[in-house]
Amino acid sequence: MPNLAEETIPTDELTLINRLVVQNLALLNEKERPVRRGQHAKHHGCVLADFEVEPGLPDELRHGLFAEPKSFKALIRFSNGEARDDRKGDAHGMAIKLFDVPGDKLLEPCDTHDFILLDQPLFFIRNVPDYVGLFDALLKAKASIIPKLLFFMPRFAVELGLVYFSFLSDRPTELAILKRTVSSKPETPLATTYHSTTPYRLGPHAVRWSVVPAVADLAKFTSANTPDKLRHALAMQLGGGEARFDFMAQLQTDADSMPIEDPTQPWDAAKSPPRKLATIRLPVQRPDTRELMDFCENLTFNPWRCLAEHRPLGGINRARRQVYTAVSNRRHELNGVPSREPTLAEFLALHA
Ligand code: HEM
Repeated sequence: MPNLAEETIPTDELTLINRLVVQNLALLNEKERPVRRGQHAKHHGCVLADFEVEPGLPDELRHGLFAEPKSFKALIRFSNGEARDDRKGDAHGMAIKLFDVPGDKLLEPCDTHDFILLDQPLFFIRNVPDYVGLFDALLKAKASIIPKLLFFMPRFAVELGLVYFSFLSDRPTELAILKRTVSSKPETPLATTYHSTTPYRLGPHAVRWSVVPAVADLAKFTSANTPDKLRHALAMQLGGGEARFDFMAQLQTDADSMPIEDPTQPWDAAKSPPRKLATIRLPVQRPDTRELMDFCENLTFNPWRCLAEHRPLGGINRARRQVYTAVSNRRHELNGVPSREPTLAEFLALHA
């Protein structure tokens, strides 16, 4: 059995990751302009935030970003997983970029630091071989003649049915997580708990990150019955008052029941309750001007854009390093925009 925070890396993993890169590039719609992200293409706002590390953290939690009480300016991109209509069930993302973070990052030399989270505690794929299998099934379904023959049914539903029969039918755990993931219908991005689902280092520990909203303090708003209801909710609430989240870490305390290599397995909160590391404050602002929406379109988030003290762990995270880099580079190249990290000054100028 592995030790705490220890990875188990299969020998053939790199070959499979290379296949996953090719599969993810194939998901880009290269005909549209701009070419958008293959996943989480739609965003609801490009939000300015302060990421304030808690004072008085115990020594065991004081690593990397959390070594000293300090405040970082941050940008948050809230997104849908797949849906263009926010009224449909879907996964929802929260990608956080901290500015002016000193120290070497694992991905590349830069001053930013990324966290990527979803509105589900578990990820619906266990490991790299399974993800390759799922994408094979998905790409075959997209190329199949069957959705064309069943033209009277929604194409997405038919493709999902094909994926079910070829991949998911004998995987009840994954199917249950996937169903939960694609049925979430929040009224606002600001009242949802987000999770890393996969583990990261906090110094010598392995942790899963989560971000918990202070729901009671949120400004009231009237829900809009439109495809962009989450953008409206975000703009209305941040126009009416500050929003706040707690940034938490759940420590791995048992290598057997809290595995590193399988994000479909829950880590028991009774065994290891999440602990607060920072407050994220979203001041009153207008987060969805045309300029800010365009700015967010050209950004890229990557779990490996981080300090070594927060190294991503587990096979799914190992794969994301190459996949996110290749897909982001490709869409930037096709859009004719440079792929580079933003500066705080240019982001603040758009919020002025
Ligand atoms: C091997 C597994 C995974 C693959 C192949 C994958 C693939 C991708 C790709 C291709 C993108 C778009 C990248 C870009 O063009 O900049 C993306 C974005 C994203 N992924 Fe994943 N993903 C994986 C696992 C996960 C996991 C475990 C999470 C859970 C937090 C996650 C959450 C997100 C979010 C929130 C975004 C949007 C980031 C943004 O705002 O730009 N993904 N993913």
